Amino acid sequence: MVATELVNPFRQGLRVDRATEPCQLVIFGASGDLTHRKLLPAIYNLAQAQLLPAAFSVTGFARQAMDDAQFRSLLATAVAESGEVRRRDQQTLEELEQRVHYVSGDFHDPTAYTALKAALERSDADYGTGGNRIFYIATPASLYVDIVEKLHAAGLVAQHGASASFVRVVVEKPFGRNLTSARSLDKELLDYLCEDQVYRIDHYLGKETVQNILVFRFANGIFEPIWNRRYVDNVQITVAESLGIESRGSFYEETGVVRDIIQNHALQLMSLVAMEPPTTFDARDFRDEKIRVIEAIKPLGAASLAQSAVRGQYGPGYVAGESVAGYRQEDGVALDSITPTYAALRFFVDNWRWADVPFYVRSGKRLPKRTSEIAIHFKQAPHLPFRKTQVGELTSNVLALSIQPNEAITLRFGAKVPGPSMRVRSVAMDFGYGAAFGAEESSAYERLILDCMKGDQTLFDRADGVEAAWSLLDPVLAAWDADRAVAFPNYAAGTWGPPEADRLLAQDGRQWRHL
Ligand SMILES: NC(=O)c1ccc[n+]([C@@H]2O[C@H](COP(=O)([O-])OP(=O)(O)OC[C@H]3O[C@@H](n4cnc5c(N)ncnc54)[C@H](OP(=O)(O)O)[C@@H]3O)[C@@H](O)[C@H]2O)c1
Repeated sequence: MVATELVNPFRQGLRVDRATEPCQLVIFGASGDLTHRKLLPAIYNLAQAQLLPAAFSVTGFARQAMDDAQFRSLLATAVAESGEVRRRDQQTLEELEQRVHYVSGDFHDPTAYTALKAALERSDADYGTGGNRIFYIATPASLYVDIVEKLHAAGLVAQHGASASFVRVVVEKPFGRNLTSARSLDKELLDYLCEDQVYRIDHYLGKETVQNILVFRFANGIFEPIWNRRYVDNVQITVAESLGIESRGSFYEETGVVRDIIQNHALQLMSLVAMEPPTTFDARDFRDEKIRVIEAIKPLGAASLAQSAVRGQYGPGYVAGESVAGYRQEDGVALDSITPTYAALRFFVDNWRWADVPFYVRSGKRLPKRTSEIAIHFKQAPHLPFRKTQVGELTSNVLALSIQPNEAITLRFGAKVPGPSMRVRSVAMDFGYGAAFGAEESSAYERLILDCMKGDQTLFDRADGVEAAWSLLDPVLAAWDADRAVAFPNYAAGTWGPPEADRLLAQDGRQWRHL
């Protein structure tokens, strides 16, 4: 017999193993919330794990007047307050602080970039960072283009290949607010940068459990043969939040759940579940396959919208026993707002593997609990030979991949209830990430910042992927914006969304998984 080699997309690992080169990380928006809660703790964790390059420095840049000492104390506070810091050690903090600087200036002001350039050149000389720079733009999205244009005017962004050192630019979601704005943002950024210099972050892809979807599917021989329309009845993806909009009323009014979660996080999850195995996990192969899924989703035209999409907005209610306000009562929200805080959508992926298998995707705020999960519902056994037995509790097999807060995989299957009669009940077989590995997992931002330092774009969005997601959702957003006659609020805070969301599945003879 001739031995056949298994096609193994992991032969280079999930990360193309490159070394971290010397570099400076320059944070635009260094006094903001994202820097405080996510970026500074992630940089500290990388320092603590000794994963930063030996030649490294951080420069914060924002409008707020601060000197180096004040920014260093901001770093210390961020580390002290963060729940994501695994090990606090004073020596690491002090060593990192030595490499942290701050430049204050308005992003619209060209002279601020002259000061920034001088500071970066000083750091190159002091730390040996060789002119390699990562500009992390953690600012309102409306500033992205202006910042890149001014960086270019100041001679701080040579296009890739034009210089021996590298320049990479990280941009945060939201990447555009519809197809037109995403396209023009891409076009404007690409006037100054090459696509391989742009790192569009969707932090969901940095989560261990999200990457584990790929390992689960493609490193095991037993699941892939049943991962298709012959065996899968439907797929349910839930990204539920128990929080409301906190103090971000005016931001959320402009955004809503489709732009905030569905266009990015939820579609990323869906593409990982539905994609074909890539030949390798290098950035091009992996992203090609992921984007093909989004492009293969049947468009939600006006005619099918009523059967395929449901929107909701929470009213007052109770979450975890506490009384909470309705969305329209939150600060910064219009009393007649039609911004959706909940959406449920039914997608079909028009390809050989998934024809006629519905993917139900839902996300909402003020739901009963915070949980993100993908549930693969398998078809019922074709014949149940238990006619005279109690099989009422027997549901179809479900494989649930939990992303947060519990990182786990659960398989539900039928088992015989102990006793003299043939009773069957659905039971769960669990795998818990923490219990199995005992390791504290690294935060998504750590992984993504490190990948950016390595020049690995695999887990970042590509322009065509972002645009494919907007192409899919633009008709939904346009139809909902145009139709103001919606009876909001239509679900109470602390419930699983509006009744229409249940009807979305009931019309197909299905129901949402009880979480
Ligand atoms: N926060 C999160 O958890 C989160 C999660 C995912 C994505 N994001 C995205 O990340 C980005 C940043 O969010 P954020 O929550 O950190 O916002 P934020 O708290 O409002 O911070 C904005 C930062 O930008 C600076 N800034 C704004 N205009 C400026 C100007 N003209 N000149 C100089 N500095 C200016 C602010 O500095 P001053 O205060 O000194 O003016 C501040 O440092 C946004 O695109 C957001 O959508 C945030």
